[in-house]
Amino acid sequence: MAEGQPLLILFGSQTGNAQDVAERIAREARARHYSPRVQPMDAYDVHLLPEEAAVVFVTSTTGQGELPSNMRAFWRFLLRKNLPADSLSGVSFAAFGLGDSGYLHYNVVAKKLARRLQALGASPCTELGLGDDQHPQGYEAALDPWLSSLWSALRSKRPLPPGSSEPAPGDTATLLHPKYQVSSCEAHLNNGGSPALPASGLEHAVAAARAFNQVEAAASGFSGRSDDSAQGFGPWQPYMAPVLKNERVTAEDHFQDTRHIELSLEDSGMTHEPGALLAVFPQQDPRAVAAFCKVAKLDPDAWIRVAPAESLRNGHSSSMQARVGDVVAGVLDVSGASPRRFFFEVLRQFSADPVEVDRLTYFASPDGREALAQYNQREGRTVLEALEDFTSARVPLQWLLQVVPRLQPRYFSIASSLAAHPGQVHILAALVDYQTPHRRHKQGVCSAWLAGLQPGKPDARVPVWVEPGVMRLPAESASMIMVGPGTGVAPFRAMLEQRAVQQSQGHAVAPSYLYFGSRNRQKDYYYGAFWEQCQESGVLAQEGGLVTAFSRDQPKKVYVQHRIRENAATLWAALQQGAVVFVCGSASKMPQDVLQALQQVLRQEAGMTAEDAAAYLKRLELTGRYITEAWS
Ligand code: 2AM
Repeated sequence: MAEGQPLLILFGSQTGNAQDVAERIAREARARHYSPRVQPMDAYDVHLLPEEAAVVFVTSTTGQGELPSNMRAFWRFLLRKNLPADSLSGVSFAAFGLGDSGYLHYNVVAKKLARRLQALGASPCTELGLGDDQHPQGYEAALDPWLSSLWSALRSKRPLPPGSSEPAPGDTATLLHPKYQVSSCEAHLNNGGSPALPASGLEHAVAAARAFNQVEAAASGFSGRSDDSAQGFGPWQPYMAPVLKNERVTAEDHFQDTRHIELSLEDSGMTHEPGALLAVFPQQDPRAVAAFCKVAKLDPDAWIRVAPAESLRNGHSSSMQARVGDVVAGVLDVSGASPRRFFFEVLRQFSADPVEVDRLTYFASPDGREALAQYNQREGRTVLEALEDFTSARVPLQWLLQVVPRLQPRYFSIASSLAAHPGQVHILAALVDYQTPHRRHKQGVCSAWLAGLQPGKPDARVPVWVEPGVMRLPAESASMIMVGPGTGVAPFRAMLEQRAVQQSQGHAVAPSYLYFGSRNRQKDYYYGAFWEQCQESGVLAQEGGLVTAFSRDQPKKVYVQHRIRENAATLWAALQQGAVVFVCGSASKMPQDVLQALQQVLRQEAGMTAEDAAAYLKRLELTGRYITEAWS
């Protein structure tokens, strides 16, 4: 087949969703007779950009509007002041963003990128596409129509090659380009672990995940960084931290099981600062792994070699060898995340039963988007459950590696200070436990596993590393206003423990203000005794330094934002003296509600207009004095 016209697709992806979208665009491009090239922005030589005729950008916006880590160098280059305004005048581009309209900074990265490309002379060939996680059908609701407009815009500039035709709707047979190559191999016995202390199943899974990262990077053409050269602990080498304590901190009759978990860092040398996050690589339920192997017709004890399909062809490869069961346990999220639409497209390719093929064809088509969202995301359908529903599919492992969501680390705000608890790290973890709209019971993979770990047992070890968070403890002389409903209060324990140690060493620490909210004083008042101690010692202000909002202890609900309004004068005085504001917790609505409450404080106490109050808080944010750490 003749080479199609080149199409460059660049992505910035944090958890893999933007990469999934980029790869989907590449599949469709191939079916439309283009020759796509997909790369993370940072793996692309940005100096070549002015020579590209057409570029498609896909980027996500994470948490507080930060850039995904694999596009930072690219973005820094685009921001250079000395780039001429017409540098990209010959470039036609299209951009699609993935974001969450529940956050303040909805899709800002895609918006900024599109604006900057245009300022440098590039011209958009279609409107900016904005995918929204809050949409009941997910980002795909915006992606489908955006793709149709992209394909027609490109086609108007580049006619079909002679003798070829556009793909028929739903024709995905041409879309199958494997990313990995899997072959069987001899068993290896030296997979970590010394004879004295045999590696656990979890350690084997972690080793498989780590090896697969390298293969994945090679298959995606991202060779910018080799994690093997990195020092210390990180995703390339988690530390297996023993569990010292695992304590339920909510009342037995409370609706939620929340755990205070203490881990030992032993002599690992691992350190953490208040505000940092603990990344936890979870262990999947071995029963789910076994059930998956059974339904996917995989022998967990067989050994395989996995390599990128492309580089094998080029003769050089980065490959791994492991036991099938360890690869499934460490790489494939079989019992947590819902698969993406491409999973169902691939399932269809490997299904034999005509009824199942019909249903999967519908799911994979734009018309079936709503039906798929109901079956899949809204019901929290897992890969294992989907395979148990579509039993005629025989999907080869190389395809499962490509389309099953990767098992991802989870991030917890660290709840302890190293100065107060040397050699330890504490977290506060709420067990995710809910019913789907069709009353199916679901539990979070990571939190359910953590909740079941028993201190002292040899397998009670948690693979962890430390990641920087957005919060930092300010200098002792700065007061803090900390707003943390629910488990959002965890990082404030780390901060206040540190301040308490500083105080005990004779330092003068500015008194701070904590706003905590939960349902009931008697049932889920996390770390209540510690906050009260802090108030006594003056680490929290003795006047108005500890403010609680127990939403269900009285007939009418009270939230932290109501308490903020009630304490307007104290808060305005603290702000005038340079207090730093921290807001931490669930992203659904709380951060916006708190922001509005603080605006009201400024209007009431300082006589500001609504615009001035908003601008005042914006300035605090820009100068690092208003920091939000939110999660959904
Ligand atoms: P509720 O569950 O009684 O509605 C921790 O989850 C606490 O945050 C609970 O008391 C919860 O109240 C409360 N909460 C729920 N939505 C909130 C919001 N938008 N802003 C602030 N607090 C909220």
